[in-house]
Amino acid sequence: MLSNCLILLMVGQAFSIPKTEEVTWYPTYHLAPHKGWINDPNGLIYHNGYYHAFFQHNPENIPEGTKHWGHARSHDMLNWEYLPIALSPSLEDDIDGIFSGSAVNLNGKLTLIYTGVSDNLNKQRQMVAISSDGVNFEKKGVVITKEGDESYFRDPKAWFQNGSWWVVIGSQTTDKLGEVLLYSSKDFFNWTYQGVLAGGNGSLGYMWECPDFFTINGKQILVISPQGLEQDGFNYQNLYQTGYFVGNWQPEQNYTIEKGFREIDHGHDFYASQSFLAPDGRRIQISWLDMWESVFAENVTGWSGMFTIPREISLNEFGDLVSKPIREIIGKRTPNTDIFDTIISSNQMLTLKNNVFSSEILIEFNLLNSSCKAIQLSLKEEPTRDEGVVLYVDIELSRLFMERYYPKYGIDKTNRSVAIDLSLSKLSLDIFVDSSSIEVFVNDGIAVMSSRIYPNNNQRKFSVAPVDGFVNVSLTSYDINVNNQ
Ligand SMILES: *[C@@H]1O[C@H](CO)[C@@H](O)[C@H](O)[C@H]1NC(C)=O
Ligand SMILES: *[C@@H]1O[C@H](CO)[C@@H](O)[C@H](O)[C@H]1NC(C)=O
Ligand SMILES: *[C@@H]1O[C@H](CO)[C@@H](O)[C@H](O)[C@H]1NC(C)=O
Ligand SMILES: *[C@@H]1O[C@H](CO)[C@@H](O)[C@H](O)[C@H]1NC(C)=O
Ligand SMILES: *[C@@H]1O[C@H](CO)[C@@H](O)[C@H](O)[C@H]1NC(C)=O
Ligand SMILES: *[C@@H]1O[C@H](CO)[C@@H](O)[C@H](O)[C@H]1NC(C)=O
Ligand SMILES: *[C@@H]1O[C@H](CO)[C@@H](O)[C@H](O)[C@H]1NC(C)=O
Repeated sequence: MLSNCLILLMVGQAFSIPKTEEVTWYPTYHLAPHKGWINDPNGLIYHNGYYHAFFQHNPENIPEGTKHWGHARSHDMLNWEYLPIALSPSLEDDIDGIFSGSAVNLNGKLTLIYTGVSDNLNKQRQMVAISSDGVNFEKKGVVITKEGDESYFRDPKAWFQNGSWWVVIGSQTTDKLGEVLLYSSKDFFNWTYQGVLAGGNGSLGYMWECPDFFTINGKQILVISPQGLEQDGFNYQNLYQTGYFVGNWQPEQNYTIEKGFREIDHGHDFYASQSFLAPDGRRIQISWLDMWESVFAENVTGWSGMFTIPREISLNEFGDLVSKPIREIIGKRTPNTDIFDTIISSNQMLTLKNNVFSSEILIEFNLLNSSCKAIQLSLKEEPTRDEGVVLYVDIELSRLFMERYYPKYGIDKTNRSVAIDLSLSKLSLDIFVDSSSIEVFVNDGIAVMSSRIYPNNNQRKFSVAPVDGFVNVSLTSYDINVNNQ
């Protein structure tokens, strides 16, 4: 009896979906667990004909619980086949959790390097597991430890270069600044410490998680997920960030940073990015499309958390990261609305589509032929209602805002924003909506905003309206036909 009461009390604390609401939140073309909790992408790799994605996973659907590595594989990175859990706590050194890490092809075998945690999360050690069939893994134990405090030493990302294996690991200095450590090995088991690859100077938080290090266009990009940054104007508005440095590195040399830390995505929910190489040479990046301590309204339906659309990343001539949705998505869409070179006049509203569940809306504003001060795009029940998501192009401020508001689920009205270049004649927004997410790619990927959204089945009407003037618009909307549901 007592325990029944306790269970009822606990369930009572979670948000429930009002009886009058019909919701569809499980994504159709994004990776998410059918049951349980996910956070960081792990072990992304193309191996023996499959893209593999592992993920921080708790089968019990609680964020604090013991972490496992869930596992899925795919031929197109959109439709996922879910496999048995790949790694569960079982050894003395990983008994409190299997934290993040990466995958390599070691002598033809799918090989994982991950952080095993024990001693109530205070011991974090790098461990290896190997698979012959790409599904079942044999643990090989600890390969890297840190002297002294082992409580901030995690998320190994490994690669092969100049005849050696290399790994970067997120860490913390003794004076509590984030840093990334570098190790090398000839055989993937016997690792030699190579020093600090990069470290914070006080302005970039107390811990750098989930480092990723790779080359694009001859430059070495270091991606980190720092914790402990204060909001700075429009920057660093989320609890934690994920951003990148551009610099130069090769074995035996220090990493020299040319361009400092910048956030990769400017939405509400984006963390712990990891990248890998597709067989055709594309660098693909996937991130957790969520944030720690946020409301996971889908929790009541048995699962929590999802990944972003995999993104092809590149560097432009100015050293800025450009992110585009993987081209595989083009083969999954069917066009259903087409508007070309049309004026929406002042006080007019164009409702594009009523049932935006699994859609891409590619919209282009011709700014040379527009007089408005702002443009408002909304996904709501009615554009005049408060609840829902609004994209707001502020032409005077040269910023794109994304505001969301789902008070039924405890999600307050907050916005995020990114600077946009309006000196171009066109502004293009490529908007991907799935059942409970929105990802907006600005001007072919020079900026991206990703957020979780929780519309009910009626709050899916997409409308566009100019503010104080007219706007010239062209657009195509598509249904995306993938069915992970
Ligand atoms: C999901 O709900 C359970 C209780 O029902 C709670 O313990 C857990 O923390 C919730 N998870 C999230 C991510 O909100
Ligand atoms: C480990 O690697 C180091 C550096 O390459 C080497 O000096 C050492 O002999 C190796 N140890 C073993 C046990 O292989
Ligand atoms: C590493 O390899 C690159 C290209 O393969 C080469 O240019 C460079 O000199 C090598 N560096 C070292 C330290 O061997
Ligand atoms: C790398 O940096 C360290 C510390 O600043 C310095 O002592 C060392 O000489 C540098 N190494 C190279 C190869 O430049
Ligand atoms: C610290 O690093 C940040 C980010 O790279 C940089 O903008 C800032 O100028 C640095 N501050 C100092 C004192 O070096
Ligand atoms: C502006 O758009 C209207 C409507 O499509 C079109 O008729 C007109 O030619 C355009 N003007 C310019 C300058 O592009
Ligand atoms: C964004 O949020 C800030 C802070 O709440 C608010 O002052 C501002 O008006 C909002 N801007 C938009 C465009 O929603």
